[in-house]
Parts: sequence; structure tokens; C-alpha cells
Amino acid sequence: MAGEMAGKVAIVTGGSRGLGRGMVELFVEEGGKVVIADLLEEEGRALAEELGDHARFLRTDVSKREEVQALVDHAVSEFGGLDAICNNAGLSDEAYGSLLDADFTKFERVMAVNVLGVMLGTQIAARHMARNGGGSIINVSSISGIQPGFGFFNYRASKAAVVNFTKSAAIELGVNLIRVNCICPGNIPTPMGTYAASDDDEKAKLIQQAVAEVRMGWQPLKRQGSPRDIAEAALYFAGDRSRQVSGQVLSVDGAATAGTAKSLIAEILAARAAVEAQG
Ligand SMILES: NC(=O)c1ccc[n+]([C@@H]2O[C@H](COP(=O)([O-])OP(=O)(O)OC[C@H]3O[C@@H](n4cnc5c(N)ncnc54)[C@H](O)[C@@H]3O)[C@@H](O)[C@H]2O)c1
Repeated sequence: MAGEMAGKVAIVTGGSRGLGRGMVELFVEEGGKVVIADLLEEEGRALAEELGDHARFLRTDVSKREEVQALVDHAVSEFGGLDAICNNAGLSDEAYGSLLDADFTKFERVMAVNVLGVMLGTQIAARHMARNGGGSIINVSSISGIQPGFGFFNYRASKAAVVNFTKSAAIELGVNLIRVNCICPGNIPTPMGTYAASDDDEKAKLIQQAVAEVRMGWQPLKRQGSPRDIAEAALYFAGDRSRQVSGQVLSVDGAATAGTAKSLIAEILAARAAVEAQG
């Protein structure tokens, strides 16, 4: 289906780079009009310019209520309405250590951007949509939000909150014909997904490759995901093909959350064989 966003207006937060940029580009390709909202002004303005008449940029901190309100107002005044918002902007807490050593110093900021930012984007966009026949809200969580594990405690907690909030919002806003869904991306090489590689370009490339290889090891589907893969899921939720779908959490993760990528039976049999081999 071509032109899936024809006649639609969308906001993508965190749209200057990474996964958000992929959504902006695909929505415009599909005929939509998009407002890019981000703290990164240079990248965001350059992208909007590249995309021409179908895109605008507005510097926005998603954790600030008045800035999110100005963002929604901007979409409406520039493009005449608002049909979809991707609450994608997010921060990693870069807390790679153990729980016993963690100091939670980034807690407030990570929660303000990853949780409050999603809540404000949902609420303020929904107020407009409720008065105008409905719309689609897409919140970006993470596989870390549904799969417990080591490290990143602020980040994990924030992304788990996005999943619960999405479902709760879907229940409450259904009466207004507003759909609310959530995407959990898996391993995607973006500035965040490559663990803030390095300022040295050459080294950054090598680090990105090394990180991607390690993450691929955990992923059952042996194909490296890209921002485009996440954008395709966002397009499905933003467009009319998902008109009956709300309150859903879609992992786009190459089966990473389906289970472990190694055979536990093989490990058990190997342990048994090792004992038997000892006589
Ligand atoms: N890349 C991955 O592997 C991966 C995996 C799971 C989830 N995610 C989630 O996907 C989303 C996008 O991540 P990404 O990999 O593209 O990261 P990224 O760091 O490349 O991009 C994030 C964007 O959000 C913007 N941003 C940060 N704080 C903001 C704020 N307060 N207001 C407005 N914009 C702000 C940044 O400037 C940046 O442009 C995030 O919510 C992230 O948690 C990413």
C-alpha cells in the first residue's frame, strides 16, 4: 500500500536522528506531513530542509509541558491538524554497573524524558485528537521494558512504565477513537544503540561493529535490524491498516524477547556427556 500517510499529519519526537529520523523519513515518503521535535537543532533543521514542504522542525524538550503544548499547536497551525504522534525521544541512563553499586544519579532526568515525556505527548496530543475525531499515538519503549535483566535500572524502569501507561491510555482514550500502541525495539545500531561509541570516527565505527556483533549473538533471527524496521512498525500503527488495533505492545526485535538464542538442552546434554566421559 503506497501513500499510507497521505493526508495525515504526524509528530515524531526525537526525530533528528536514530529511530525517530527513520520514522520521519518513512512517513514523508508515504505522503504524510511531519513535525520533527528534538533538542538537536542542527540535525533536525537540516532534515526538515532536506524533506522540503512536508516537514518542519521545532526545538522541543519533551519533558516540559509548555514545550509539548507548543509542539502540538505548531503541528496544527503549520499543517492544519494532528493525526499521529510518535513519542520516541528517549535517553539511556548509561548505568552499566551492578545494582549494588548503582547510584541512580540519572533517575530524575531519565524518568522525566522517557516517562513524563511520553505521558505529556500522549495527553496533549490526545486533547487535540479527542476534539477532532480521534488519532493514533505510538509510544516507544524497549525490549528492556518487558524483559528483566542486568544493569540500566533507571532505563528499564522507565521503559516498563511506558508499557503500562500505553495500555492504560488505550483503555481510557478508546471512547475518543484514539488508539495508543507501543513499540519495543530490539538491537538497532543508532547513537544510543551503539553505547555512545566514541568521538574518534574511526574508533567509533569499530566499536559500533563490535557492539552490534555482540548484540546479534543474543538475537535468534540472524539479521541486523535497522531504523527502517522500527519505522515500518510505527507506520503500521500510525496509518489506517491498524484501525482496530489499540493497547498493543509490539516487539520489533528479531525474536530477542521470545527466548534465549542458545540451546539449553544442548548445554545439559554436554554436561551429562562430560560426566559420562569421565567414566
Ligand atoms: N537503538 C536501540 O537499540 C533502541 C532499543 C530499544 C529502545 N530504543 C528507544 O528508541 C528511542 C529512540 O532511540 P535511538 O536509538 O534513536 O536513540 P538516539 O539517541 O539516537 O536518538 C534519541 C533522540 O531523542 C532526542 N532526545 C533526547 N532527549 C530529548 C528531549 N528531552 N526532548 C526531545 N528530544 C530528546 C535526542 O536528541 C535524539 O535525537 C528511545 O526511546 C530509545 O530508548 C532504542
